[in-house]
Amino acid sequence: MRIPIIAGNWKMNMTTKQALELVKGIHYSFKNPGNVEVIVAPTALLTKTVADAVLGSYIRVAVQNVYHKDSGAFTGEISAVMAKDVGADYAIIGHSERRQYFGETDESVNLKVKSCFANNIIPIVCVGETLQERESGQLHKVIGQQVVRGLHGLNPKEAADVVVAYEPVWAIGTGKTATGQEAEEAHFLIRSLLTEMFGTPMAEKIRILYGGSVKSENAKELLSFPNIDGALVGGASLKVQDFIGIIQGLH
Ligand code: PGA
Repeated sequence: MRIPIIAGNWKMNMTTKQALELVKGIHYSFKNPGNVEVIVAPTALLTKTVADAVLGSYIRVAVQNVYHKDSGAFTGEISAVMAKDVGADYAIIGHSERRQYFGETDESVNLKVKSCFANNIIPIVCVGETLQERESGQLHKVIGQQVVRGLHGLNPKEAADVVVAYEPVWAIGTGKTATGQEAEEAHFLIRSLLTEMFGTPMAEKIRILYGGSVKSENAKELLSFPNIDGALVGGASLKVQDFIGIIQGLH
């Protein structure tokens, strides 16, 4: 019932030439992805270039962040209005790297999520615990706060459309993946929290993606769990064959 999503988070990588080669490569080597939404998130500088290149194909474009105001004196920031204007349909919000290096909080995440919805952008809201939090038994508390505060105040339509990405911080870029069972447990917890917040019908519609060292070798197992509705992929989204291998893990 939930259409899976495979999203590539390119982070601060890719020049114009590399970005165009990558999306062309994905499109040429994978004509019909079937029942899946495929998203790429280039640097905001390349949103328009990539969105123009993939126009009319199955590939959709995300930005990696927005500021919550539409416009104004906020030097260096980009807004959801601007992201939409240049062809983005999704925005990654609250990625752990933004929380860690750029002071993102659950409150700023919530403002950004609302700004996305106000501008017809679907937010992909990232949550996840550090290794220290997991080992000290705080998984439920940390994820609970991030989900409840980050998604506070959404209306039923927004609740059904929002995408959540569970990305355990200790698995990002480290080569350590959560086992399918560990990921499924966290996804089940997130779905239970969403059910408390929005009720069962809405919570059942929400896509919860797993992120953290997803590769073609482990994608199939991770994606086979009932509450894992896709993947947010970093490193392995930068090469055509690696990214395609993950999409193929769905079949
Ligand atoms: P990774 O990154 O796949 O390189 O671990 C995932 C992410 O940060 O979204």
